[in-house]
Amino acid sequence: MSSLPICAIALFALLFITLTFLKDNWNLHVHGRDLANEIPHLNSVSYNNSLDKELQERRKELLIYYAVSGNKSGALSKKNVLSSRNEWVAQIKESIMYVATITDEIGCDQLRYIKIVDFLGAGYTKAVVKGVLPKGFPVALKSVNEKGTDIRRCLEDFKDLEGCRELVSYKLIKEIVLLQRLRHPNLIKLQGHCLWSLRAGAVTAAFEQGSPLQMIELLQSPWEERFRVCLGLVRLLHYLSQSPLGSVALLDFQPRQFVLVAGELKLTDLDDASIEEPMCQTRADCLLHFPIRNFSIPCSPEGVCQGLNEKRNLYNAYRYFFMYLLPHQAPPTLRPLIDQIMNLTGELKNNVSKTRKAFEEILHLYKSGLYLQNLPPSSVEDYTALRGVRASGGGVYRCWPSYSQKACVLSVFSVREAAFICTSHPHCSSFTLGAQVTWTGRRLVYFRTGFSDLVPDVDSIVYIKKAQSLRTEAD
Ligand SMILES: Nc1ncnc2c1ncn2[C@@H]1O[C@H](COP(=O)(O)OP(=O)(O)O)[C@@H](O)[C@H]1O
Ligand SMILES: *[C@@H]1O[C@H](CO)[C@@H](O)[C@H](O)[C@H]1NC(C)=O
Ligand SMILES: *[C@@H]1O[C@H](CO)[C@@H](O)[C@H](O)[C@H]1NC(C)=O
Ligand SMILES: *[C@@H]1O[C@H](CO)[C@@H](O)[C@H](O)[C@H]1NC(C)=O
Ligand SMILES: *[C@@H]1O[C@H](CO)[C@@H](O)[C@H](O)[C@H]1NC(C)=O
Ligand SMILES: *[C@@H]1O[C@H](CO)[C@@H](O)[C@H](O)[C@H]1NC(C)=O
Ligand SMILES: [Mg+2]
Repeated sequence: MSSLPICAIALFALLFITLTFLKDNWNLHVHGRDLANEIPHLNSVSYNNSLDKELQERRKELLIYYAVSGNKSGALSKKNVLSSRNEWVAQIKESIMYVATITDEIGCDQLRYIKIVDFLGAGYTKAVVKGVLPKGFPVALKSVNEKGTDIRRCLEDFKDLEGCRELVSYKLIKEIVLLQRLRHPNLIKLQGHCLWSLRAGAVTAAFEQGSPLQMIELLQSPWEERFRVCLGLVRLLHYLSQSPLGSVALLDFQPRQFVLVAGELKLTDLDDASIEEPMCQTRADCLLHFPIRNFSIPCSPEGVCQGLNEKRNLYNAYRYFFMYLLPHQAPPTLRPLIDQIMNLTGELKNNVSKTRKAFEEILHLYKSGLYLQNLPPSSVEDYTALRGVRASGGGVYRCWPSYSQKACVLSVFSVREAAFICTSHPHCSSFTLGAQVTWTGRRLVYFRTGFSDLVPDVDSIVYIKKAQSLRTEAD
């Protein structure tokens, strides 16, 4: 919510949802403004003080997430009438704990004695540190950022430290609630939490630890790694477009809301997610504004801007990720497909589902070597293979974009592709295939200008350019 007024989203969250009863469950069904009328017990407390109002809106939002996922367990029961703050807070705690006992591994007991070893980052809402559990297992711990913009703005508006801490802690709790419901390889994994005290805003959530996404570094990495990030993002957006909570929009979509865990992109900041799609009468009501483009989508017969959330996410993925990471240094035979993805996404002509299919197709072509169809056939015969050895030093040259800063290390589909690359590099006279593979299963190859210092290595084969070896023999 870093970029929107605090109350806007909480209100927004409630305006367009209606819950209807189906047996004893709550199911998200109709979009409309009458949530308040349909669920009197979500409305049984009304506050005059505006901070209290705000707090109450946040509590409602949290319980709605439980209700919406259509799972009676942990959700507000139809019979419950919550008439005081304490009853609301108790219901929230109960809902969170109910799921936590099933899914979370880390609770208050483990978090009480955790060792804090490092600072990982901070944003408007949360501060993140690295903690180490007694068994040496590292986790990222999020808590309310006491020095953050959210607390500061709230204090300016309401001058109530306790209330502000509780208000901001509801954003972290929202993240916990959402991550209890949403699971995907490209969403950060929630490992547990502790609600020490809501009044004091003392909430800790434990997540798998990643490293902040460094766009500059990523720009210099091989295409395969940049493609991995974009593919992970598209897979995530596809999941979010049909999640158990409905279609989820990421309102504060920026690279800094993501981390990398072992090269895999993971969304870590979810407190600005929204599951609402606005009501509409005409297309003109379904607008998406971006700095350099505006879009509008059709208003569905039900009077909802259906698909607005996924389109918003997709265009953000295009402007923050694809544009920088995808086309640059892509394999030439994949370029037409990539240009097509870029164009269709940049114009928002495809939905997320179709975009994901296009990405998976590129992955398939890449992994299966089909993109290499036009490779000249002869190259491998120009090289002599020495099995069971590797070059241990010397002859190093640099190329770009390499997997190593100090040497020319590239991934290849086949020996033939490696031979083709070596032949096309003026400095290259030998290359070594080891056992190392990339995330797609492609082999990492060391290209060199010489082939001296060969040492035994059963997993490795050195290929030496024949012209070069003949010349060496003649010397
Ligand atoms: N799991 C994590 N591992 C490592 N760093 C993280 C993790 N989660 C967040 N961070 C870092 O902390 C920063 C703030 O976290 P975030 O959840 O985005 O808080 P805010 O809601 O205040 O923006 C992020 O920008 C990121 O750099
Ligand atoms: C809010 O104000 C109304 C009228 O001024 C009053 O009747 C009501 O008791 C107040 N509610 C609370 C929770 O203070
Ligand atoms: C309800 O949620 C609990 C906890 O997440 C889960 O174990 C259970 O299978 C869910 N039931 C349904 C019907 O989704
Ligand atoms: C987008 O819409 C806004 C408001 O309607 C308008 O001010 C702006 O000029 C439009 N931008 C573009 C690039 O069309
Ligand atoms: C997509 O292609 C069309 C036609 O070639 C072009 O006019 C348009 O500018 C392209 N859009 C983007 C976002 O690349
Ligand atoms: C996405 O678009 C394709 C073709 O344009 C369509 O067949 C498909 O039903 C759409 N999927 C969703 C989820 O809207
Ligand atoms: Mg953030």
